[in-house]
Amino acid sequence: MPAAEPVAATDAGRVGPEPTLPDAATLRALSASCGLELAAFRPAHVARTIARAVTRLGLPGPAALAAAIHGDPGLRGRFRRAVAVSTTGMFRDPAQFELLDRLMRADDRSGRPLKVWSIGASDGSELCSLALLLEAQGVLDGATLLGSDLMPENVALARERSRERLAPAVFSALRFEERDVSRSTPDGTWDVVLCRNVLIHLAPGPKAAMLDHAAGALAPGGLLLLGRSERLPVSDRRGLVDAGANAYRCAP
Ligand SMILES: C[S@@+](CC[C@H](N)C(=O)[O-])C[C@H]1O[C@@H](n2cnc3c(N)ncnc32)[C@H](O)[C@@H]1O
Repeated sequence: MPAAEPVAATDAGRVGPEPTLPDAATLRALSASCGLELAAFRPAHVARTIARAVTRLGLPGPAALAAAIHGDPGLRGRFRRAVAVSTTGMFRDPAQFELLDRLMRADDRSGRPLKVWSIGASDGSELCSLALLLEAQGVLDGATLLGSDLMPENVALARERSRERLAPAVFSALRFEERDVSRSTPDGTWDVVLCRNVLIHLAPGPKAAMLDHAAGALAPGGLLLLGRSERLPVSDRRGLVDAGANAYRCAP
């Protein structure tokens, strides 16, 4: 009997064979037409995203999808969002904000202004939530809050939504920038680095590089918070120690 194929729910809710990635040339064509390096994302996620789009649009295959995306800015935008997964929300996973609140209140900062970096900032909800937390703690004055995201459309949305959501004095502490964090980091070191729900969507190489950048950007005693389902492997904590669920601290 042949080995069972892995299965995945299809759009119609049926169960079918797990989609596979198209050949390298088609993947390059798709990357070029959508403007994202598809090889940077987890292969199974990319394969499913392509298969879903092909099915939904009734196309003969991935090559036709590349051509369709090329000629349709709306479709291009939807495909990019599906690949980069921009799901977010204010105080997403509230227990993580409660943990941050506790850990940050326990820190003796001797009046030094805080620096917070949100990796994969999406529409800015995460950084807005942090800004409100710092305001409630009375430590927003002089703080620097930076959100980095791969997608320029997310950066524009983050600026717009944050301006709408926050009082001007709170909004003025926030900055957003376009950056591929698997390739580079902003200057300086950070007291809090949020890298939530980004690593799970990346291929192993970019994922390791992003983790190196996130851990390497911590100030002495700084905190790194990963997503609820993300952990640093015990064998490779990058010199950080556990600080709570999915939270790690740099040596002082
Ligand atoms: C699922 S959202 C996470 C949003 C937020 N951190 C949260 O947990 O609510 C993932 C975000 O990471 C961004 N992203 C993906 N790869 C990235 C990279 N290499 N560098 C920076 N941002 C990236 C995506 O554009 C998307 O906005």
